[in-house]
Amino acid sequence: MHPMLNIAVKAARRAGNLIYRATDKIDHLTVTRKSHADFVSEVDRAAEQTIIQTLLEAYPDHAILAEESGTQGDSEFVWIIDPLDGTTNFLHGFPQFAVSIALQHKGVITQAVVYDPTKNELFTATRGRGAFLNDKRIRVTKRVNLADSLIGTGFPYTKFDHMDAYVGIFKDLIQKTAGLRRPGSAALDLAWMAAGRYDGFFETGLHVWDIAAGTLLITEAGGMVSDLHGKETYLKTGHICAGNPNIHPQLLQVIAPHLTPALKGQ
Ligand code: IPD
Ligand code: CA
Ligand code: CA
Repeated sequence: MHPMLNIAVKAARRAGNLIYRATDKIDHLTVTRKSHADFVSEVDRAAEQTIIQTLLEAYPDHAILAEESGTQGDSEFVWIIDPLDGTTNFLHGFPQFAVSIALQHKGVITQAVVYDPTKNELFTATRGRGAFLNDKRIRVTKRVNLADSLIGTGFPYTKFDHMDAYVGIFKDLIQKTAGLRRPGSAALDLAWMAAGRYDGFFETGLHVWDIAAGTLLITEAGGMVSDLHGKETYLKTGHICAGNPNIHPQLLQVIAPHLTPALKGQ
């Protein structure tokens, strides 16, 4: 395993264990509302500190971009961290949440870890070396038709600027696919897409820490990722469409008539 991935795995496992231990005491946690339906708990913050400590102990010169504490340092190596993706699930005892850590080097994501502590599933990838689930190689599905496909998504839930377009896409996809799922952790959704549990995925308005690791997992598993009009700006826009190489263009085709200038970044 690449030494930088190794450190990221160590950090993700430490944070995951901390989160897992806290699932017994969710009723006693201090929870703050950041904005509408956007919560943060002391567990999010503690997990983030554990991750940052572990990474900086090994690489003191690297920079950090983390959801709860923002940026620190200045380096061509930037660790992008979501300490707990799926906080709402976590706070309700709904077992679908994960730790997400990615390394960006000179603007390119090179290492990725998504760790699900409740299922003890560790998804990892190093650019150019494939994607793995608990050390077993994973690949995206080979499904050919959208009509047979299971598609993952996330609902807009804090900002509602793209609501009408989203609902339009949703309505079409309900009728054109085998099913839609919204489990509530984008990082894990992307990891599951890489592992062949979905054939496609789309969501609007995500943050870079939700998707930095998951998108490398998908491309290393042979899948395709773009923004909603097929361009490579998803890390910036947070609008994302992913799929196996057959399903990705079909998803884009369904999405296209619903695109607004804002969704195209215009
Ligand atoms: C959220 C989850 C959710 C997605 C939201 C994210 P958080 O992350 O990934 O699935 O729909 O857009 O913000 O707030 O739980 O880290
Ligand atoms: Ca998140
Ligand atoms: Ca989070």
